[in-house]
Formats: sequence, structure tokens, C-alpha cells
Amino acid sequence: MLCLGIEGTAHTFGVGIVNSKGKILANTSRVYTPPKGGIHPREAAQFHTANARAVLSDALKTAGVDIENIDLIAFSLGPGLGPCLRTAATAARALAAFHDIPILGINHCIAHVEIGRLVARAKDPVTLYVSGGNTQVIAFDAGRYRVFGETLDIPVGNCLDVFAREVGLPHPGGPNVERLAREGKRYVLLPYVVKGMDLSFSGLMTETVRKHRAGADVRDLCYSLQETAFAALVEVTERAVAHTEKREVMLTGGVAANKRLREMLKLMAKEHHAKFFVPPMELCADNGAMIGWTGILAYTHGVRQNLEDTVVNQRWRVDEVSIPWR
Ligand code: ATP
Ligand code: FE2
Repeated sequence: MLCLGIEGTAHTFGVGIVNSKGKILANTSRVYTPPKGGIHPREAAQFHTANARAVLSDALKTAGVDIENIDLIAFSLGPGLGPCLRTAATAARALAAFHDIPILGINHCIAHVEIGRLVARAKDPVTLYVSGGNTQVIAFDAGRYRVFGETLDIPVGNCLDVFAREVGLPHPGGPNVERLAREGKRYVLLPYVVKGMDLSFSGLMTETVRKHRAGADVRDLCYSLQETAFAALVEVTERAVAHTEKREVMLTGGVAANKRLREMLKLMAKEHHAKFFVPPMELCADNGAMIGWTGILAYTHGVRQNLEDTVVNQRWRVDEVSIPWR
């Protein structure tokens, strides 16, 4: 069975083609970069419209298949930015209806976890999913994926990006903050916020910007920002590991590229005798293959949707999804 997965929750328009053995035959994407400032949902959606055809033909060509060979169309139904979600859903519905192929809307966050389980060979991890649009600690418990902790305001990637922009570092902020953090020498005291199992990064971001305006060294600030934000992420992930007694920790999302975050999580995992996994970066970032693979899992375990069921859901939470494949 061949599934074509379409990802379009935010910046990335991606198409992946995956077979039922978990082989990824193609995984292509184009990423919208705003000319300045943050992402504007409508402009990102226009980018997706303009690039959908090229990404789709690229994926089919790479996989060496024709659209007629596709047995299932899966797409990111949510959570994400409304205009982007609707663009990806429209592309998926048009393909499915025109070529008479079954269609399935997939939860984006679950897809991040499932592609990680496939390629990193983690069986049952506590997952820290950190990107520009999401910050969640997810684990499987009592028949569903559950959120063990999450940000109450902005995602950690957004915190890094906004700080970087405010202090004049080029976009995307995360890698530039990481680079400068290596040259930081002094820890500047910043607000560390963990509330119960949840996180908050907006106060941290504002205070780091304020300290910059007050004259603190930008390298020290990058270092301190990373140490503070990542310690909070590791604390919540560690508590989820202790609570669930799982023996695997997985890191995914765009921020998974960060070496310091990897190092801190790996150390925590070791202390809990847990294995630590990070999927290859092209599968940590938003991509079509993860949607395609989760489509295969769902479809082969009896999940079906009619076209009417494929209305996008900007706030679709992981614990609302039944998981017959686990
Ligand atoms: P999502 O839809 O899952 O929220 P996204 O649109 O934010 O995804 P991703 O590619 O998953 O896209 O993540 C991009 C984020 O990752 C940005 O915030 C970027 O700054 C951050 N990032 C990338 N590399 C690094 C790094 N080395 N250190 C820290 N953050 C990084
Ligand atoms: Fe994502």
C-alpha cells in the first residue's frame, strides 16, 4: 500500500510518499520564509498554494510513481494555522476526489511521534516535541497519546526566534542563538518558569530582551536563555519519565537540532536508565512523510473518513485521537 502524505500546518508545505512497510520513497518540501518579522498565516497559505503543484510532482517523480499508484491520501488536519491547514486540506481533497482515492486527516503532533518511532526505532518514548509553533511533552498512556506538559503561552522555538529578531540576529533565530551561546561566559539570571507540569516562555523572552537593552552581552544572554529554557524543558520531560516509568526519551521538532538541548536530555535519560533518540533532522522538522506514515498506521487499523469528516481543526489535541494501532 502506498500513501501520499501532505503536510501544511505552518511554514512548510511537504509531500511524502510512504509504503506500508515504512519505507519512505519520497519526502519533499518547500518552506515559507517571511521577508521580515514573524509568520503571517495568510501569506504562508498563499505560498503553499503557489508551491503545492511543484512539491507534489517532485515527490511523485522522486518516488517513481504515478498518482494512480497511490492508495491513500493523508493530510495534516490540525493543529496549526487555519489558512495553511485549509490550503493543504483543499489540495488533499481535490486529489482524493478527482482520483477516487480514500482520504484521512492526521493529527500533526501524533505524526511527529509516529515517524520518530518508525525511524529512530523507539518503541514507547516520552517525546519532547519542540518547534516554532509547538512545545509539548507527549507519551502514550491508557490507550491514547497524552500531553504531560506544554507551554502555556509561546513555544520555545518562537521564544528563541523573537529574541533573535529583537537583538538583530538573522532568521531563523534558533541556530544563531545556539552559535552565540557557545561563546557566552557568564550566566545572567533570567526567569525560570515551570507551573505544575506546564511551561511558560513569554516572560523569559521579554526579560532577555530587556537585559539586552540594558546592555548585557548578547553572547551571555544567548547562553543564559538556552540554559534557562532548556532546563525547564528537561525538568518537565524528566517528571513525565519518572511518572510513566518509560525507558525511552525522544526529542523531535525543529529545535531538536540544538546540540545543547540534546546533551541535557541525554544526560537526564541516562540518569533514568532510559534510551535517548533523535530522528534525522529532515524527519524532526515538519514533513509529508510523517503524515503519510501515520496515514498508513491509521488506515491499516480500520480508521476511515468521509470527505465531510475532513474539516480542519486548528486546535486538535492529541488526546482526542483514538489510536487503534497501539
Ligand atoms: P511546527 O509546525 O511543528 O511548529 P515550525 O513551523 O516551527 O514547526 P520547524 O522546522 O519544526 O518548523 O522548527 C523551526 C524552529 O526550530 C524555529 O523556531 C527555529 O529557530 C528552531 N531551530 C532550528 N534550529 C535550531 C537550533 N539549532 N537551536 C534551536 N532552535 C532551532
Ligand atoms: Fe511540527
